[in-house]
Amino acid sequence: MGTAATNSQSTLRPRYIIEGGIPLKGSVKLSGAKNAVTKMMVASMLSDQQTKLRNAPSHVGDAMITQMVMETLGAKVTWTHESEVLLQTKTIINSSITPDLGRKNRLSILTAGPLLHRTGSALIPVPGGDRIGSRPIDYHISGLAQMGAEVEEYDRAYHLRAKRLKGATISMPFPSVGATETLLIAGALAKGVTIIQNAAIEPEIIDLIKFLQKMGAIIEQRVDRKIVIEGVDSLHGADHSILSDRMEAVSLAVAAYVTQGDVRLEGASQEHLLTFLNTLYRVGLEFTVEDNAIRFYTNRWPPQSIALETDVHPGFMTDWQQPFTVLLTQSAGMSVVHETLYDDRFGYTSELRQMGADIGLYTKCLGELSCRFRESEKKHSAIIRGPTPLHSATLEIPDIRAGCSYIIAALCAQGVSTAYGIEHIERGYEKLDEKLRNLGAHIEKAGSESEIPDDL
Ligand code: EPU
Repeated sequence: MGTAATNSQSTLRPRYIIEGGIPLKGSVKLSGAKNAVTKMMVASMLSDQQTKLRNAPSHVGDAMITQMVMETLGAKVTWTHESEVLLQTKTIINSSITPDLGRKNRLSILTAGPLLHRTGSALIPVPGGDRIGSRPIDYHISGLAQMGAEVEEYDRAYHLRAKRLKGATISMPFPSVGATETLLIAGALAKGVTIIQNAAIEPEIIDLIKFLQKMGAIIEQRVDRKIVIEGVDSLHGADHSILSDRMEAVSLAVAAYVTQGDVRLEGASQEHLLTFLNTLYRVGLEFTVEDNAIRFYTNRWPPQSIALETDVHPGFMTDWQQPFTVLLTQSAGMSVVHETLYDDRFGYTSELRQMGADIGLYTKCLGELSCRFRESEKKHSAIIRGPTPLHSATLEIPDIRAGCSYIIAALCAQGVSTAYGIEHIERGYEKLDEKLRNLGAHIEKAGSESEIPDDL
């Protein structure tokens, strides 16, 4: 009975069925950046006027979750086109986020700025589980407290109160993307000048600064990771086109290489992919940069091995690590990857090993960067020996980027693989299966509709 029940559950569960070994060929347009759209949606709540976001990925689950959160707070979110959304929050009707919604992604804390400025209060649940390592929000909370917010910590929630946030000089222990964004959004309307030292400067953050400037904010990016925000009394609506998704770009580029295909990515930005492109040269792979596209192809195979370390921008992104590791399973020789952003972001490699990859994990820092996990027992370095042919497998996707690496591995493998847990992919990538099919991949979705899972 157990087996029958399990079988019928597997038949119902949404999954991708992927036949590997087919070279991807053609041109595809990248979507707007998942990790920018959600932040701008929240930032629009700083004003009661209407904002328009273009090149916004409507089919990305994270945007849908953000929409749900915003609607409970009083925002009106209208998709006028597949990639265009109108946002307006005339009045904030509620300043608490429910734990159910708070668990679904890590965006709730960003609402602290708009809620505090417009209502004086924000009840924010602690974000949910950590499948890629420790992800606290202490920098966000400490920064808001330095800006004058009174903070009470309840069981799994923070209650913040402030009549008006005021400018402060905040030094972050590490250039956190999310905390920089929380403080940018909060600082835009604060009284006086907010200085963020050791700020993150990822392209999605610079795009958020551009968006806030269009709303009337005064924000300067100085040298040495310093951002200076001169608070203003009010902001207005804006019209902004979001930068393209550089994680999607890298994932599709690697899929092109491991299938020895030839793929042109429209909207791929050389400026935002500089480090990735340099790394491709180092392993001996080819690409051609056009005005608004990059073509990824190769006449030289296999690639060479490499030692690389993930780092904050402009370094090699932690979200590129998983697809790139799949590429390294096909490289000749021994490669080393040192993950310095998250302490537990190699769990996914067990499934790659099941497919034939030769990957060993180590607690030691196998690299030169000074890493926060040096003394920890966490396996945050990997040695990959290649090339190893990959074979098909049944895969269980644990999170967005790991999931995408499984799909890439399945496209590279001989045989037919099945990947479950595709809700994670749908949270982070817009119509990935459709885009891959347009490039000639044999990937089909089966089972019933997927639901948005709790936070990664
Ligand atoms: N950190 C703290 N305390 C904080 C905030 C961060 O200790 O209050 C630590 C984290 O534990 C981590 C490091 O700082 O070790 C960096 O975390 P960061 O805050 O920069 O990450 P994030 O804002 O939570 C965003 C992206 C991630 C991406 C990272 C790094 C979003 C929604 N998420 O996360 O993307 O990996 O920046 O670039 O923007 C994904 O899209 O799948 C994803 C995980």
